[in-house]
Amino acid sequence: MKLRTIDQIKNINGKRILLRLDLNVPLDDKCRVAKNGDWRLARAIPTIQYLVKKKAKVIIVAHLGRPKGKVDPKLSLLPVAQTLSKKLGQEIEFWSGNFRDWEEDSYSMPKGSVSMLENIRFEPREKLACKRLSRAMAKLADIYVNDAFGNLHRYEDASMEMVGHYLPAYAGFLIREEVEHLSEVLNIKKGLVIIFGGAKASTKMKLIKSFSKRTDSVLVGGALANTMLKASGYMIGKSLFDKDSMKIAKELLGTVVQMPLDVAVSSNFKVKQRKIISVGDVGNKEMILDIGPVTIAHYTEILKKAKLIIWNGPFGYFENKIYIKGSKDIMQMLAKSKAKVILGGGETVELAQKLKLDKQFHFISTGGGAMLTYLGGAKMPALERLKK
Ligand code: 3PG
Ligand code: MG
Repeated sequence: MKLRTIDQIKNINGKRILLRLDLNVPLDDKCRVAKNGDWRLARAIPTIQYLVKKKAKVIIVAHLGRPKGKVDPKLSLLPVAQTLSKKLGQEIEFWSGNFRDWEEDSYSMPKGSVSMLENIRFEPREKLACKRLSRAMAKLADIYVNDAFGNLHRYEDASMEMVGHYLPAYAGFLIREEVEHLSEVLNIKKGLVIIFGGAKASTKMKLIKSFSKRTDSVLVGGALANTMLKASGYMIGKSLFDKDSMKIAKELLGTVVQMPLDVAVSSNFKVKQRKIISVGDVGNKEMILDIGPVTIAHYTEILKKAKLIIWNGPFGYFENKIYIKGSKDIMQMLAKSKAKVILGGGETVELAQKLKLDKQFHFISTGGGAMLTYLGGAKMPALERLKK
């Protein structure tokens, strides 16, 4: 795939660049960027630095969380701007409030300086591919650069695809790097095993279908596994699951999808010991919080035969050290394996960092859903817009 990248922009000096980044990082309870959560910021830096060096005026647009079109002070991008600024070693002026009020400033900002707009998902029409909103954003700039790989599957976001209709659009270096690495494995059809976990189930459930024809096995954990278990008639108590995915989950029963056989459960988060039970024994007040030892062994056997492994989403509530075990055992095993392993998505990478294994894998993608959408071969209009 040939992309128009930022090194092909002519006469960049003094140009106003609207730079779409994925800065969707976890915050701690004091609304600071969480420990181990800032790695996505580091991956955004080469593009910013290049534009600064070329004396462009850089205006960053990004989202944080899912505020559903309403202003939510807890999801302000200000702390993210501050952390990014430290990493960049350069001031980032935060343009709070309504982005439309900053148009004049976009002209007067010094060459080589960087500003950041407030969370674009505070805009009620951001998630509606709204032409009027995209046009308003385009007024802030002469050129649009998209480097938000992790959000590339959200093409209906007005700041992703639509804004590229109103400005010349280019890809940043991160999107180029991701596409180069991921396209390498796009055509591998034998020996592929996928691990799907995490708390968000709906996007992934749809993707399993597109993968199932060319995948040896799909190993599931987290909300996705709970949804599959429920679809096959098991009681899952108070476990997290996705109601809207039940129909697809039923269609996936008896396919390449492998579900947990035993699980770690609890009825509250205060307990200090793992309680392991078979999937048929979950009580109605209990939550499934990790996979159990029989499942770990079963999944390990499958993974030993794989040539390429793609992992998105931990198996359970890994933030708690009692429930990290399933994800930890599997990740440690993969770190030693000869197979090519690609990790993607916020939590999976955080887990690798926590275990100090993040240097052991073939590639770490900044995208979870975006990586899977790309690898699943689905159309990505926001990426199409950046093609030559
Ligand atoms: C992500 O973190 O996966 C991307 O930034 C997209 O976020 P979303 O799943 O809230 O759309
Ligand atoms: Mg995510």
